[in-house]
Amino acid sequence: MSTTTSPLDQRASPPLWLLTELTYRCPLHCAFCYNPVDFASHGAELDTDTWRDVITQARGLGAAQIGFSGGEPLVRDDLETLVAHARGLGFYTNLITSGVGLNEQRIAALKEAGLDHIQLSFQDSTRELNDFVSSTKTFDLKHRVARLIKAHGYPMVLNCVLHRYNLPHVAQIIDMALEMGADYLELANTQYYGWAMLNREQLMPTSEQLQEAEAMVNRYRERVGDRCRILFVVPDYFESRPKACMNGWGSVFLGIAPDGTALPCHAARSLPGLSLPRVQDTALADIWYHSHAFNAFRGDDWMREPCRSCDERGADHGGCRCQAYLLTGDAAAADPVCAKSAHHEQIEQVVTLARRPARDGACDTQAQPLIFRSRENSLRLG
Ligand code: FES
Repeated sequence: MSTTTSPLDQRASPPLWLLTELTYRCPLHCAFCYNPVDFASHGAELDTDTWRDVITQARGLGAAQIGFSGGEPLVRDDLETLVAHARGLGFYTNLITSGVGLNEQRIAALKEAGLDHIQLSFQDSTRELNDFVSSTKTFDLKHRVARLIKAHGYPMVLNCVLHRYNLPHVAQIIDMALEMGADYLELANTQYYGWAMLNREQLMPTSEQLQEAEAMVNRYRERVGDRCRILFVVPDYFESRPKACMNGWGSVFLGIAPDGTALPCHAARSLPGLSLPRVQDTALADIWYHSHAFNAFRGDDWMREPCRSCDERGADHGGCRCQAYLLTGDAAAADPVCAKSAHHEQIEQVVTLARRPARDGACDTQAQPLIFRSRENSLRLG
């Protein structure tokens, strides 16, 4: 096992959130998926024993919450084993799922294993759009799975990624969630990484769509109160200050990709010159505290102007390194979402381009078809 050191690692606090991306296999083909476009070229998935060991090490470091994600984690038949292992170590366990593969038998087994929380994704309130953007016929299945989750006594936590096509349906999406007895509804506007970046022009909403949707969400919040907590995550392209991505690099988030690559953030594979360690080669404590990758943007010593002297650097940590690289070619640049960035104009241009009229809920993909997440497309484009 190898160890590299950095003076910055002295300041690091332990990871709190372990995200295990158990697999890149997924029955859905969502055009906004954040998984890497070249996922089909990555190595074999970790086996059960290695995942167990990773989970044990992470708990030893102090991580308290674990997410089982993917791809679709239910395609792994050792999911229940891993949940039981994590729960036994004292983790708060979360399953992040499309619902495909969650039947009576598996949910009972997951309950028995001690699973604490399930987040179910939906694509839209209409069958047409749900099935279109995921390129599957899963609308009815998701409704069945929602009933199953409720029947097994879990809080109903729904997630719906928003974009140009479904933003006009926000009221109907909330109505659907309320009918399902949702306790939490996360309306997360698309963030442009991975497959979503490929489809950015098609998915980017107009600012009017966003304003109307947010106003609608606020009206529902007043009406619904505590019965259902509705979160509305604004897309950062429409902001003038960047998001505090990952709450700061190497601060709380530790992701592990299916092939064992340790990730300081979801999109870290896209950054050049970052030698990402693998859990098969390096102990997790060394990865977290000492690896070059986890120290590359930890703290603020890496910052240049305008971030270096900015009063807000402690709050936004310079924004998102991956977005800075994707849009400027320089991972240490200020996130171009920030109005202080010399590249902010690029963000404004994308937003301006989106001003073309958006047809209500219509999938106008004539001009440029959506590229769906699939193995074939990954091998072609990755
Ligand atoms: Fe990589 Fe934001 S996604 S730092």
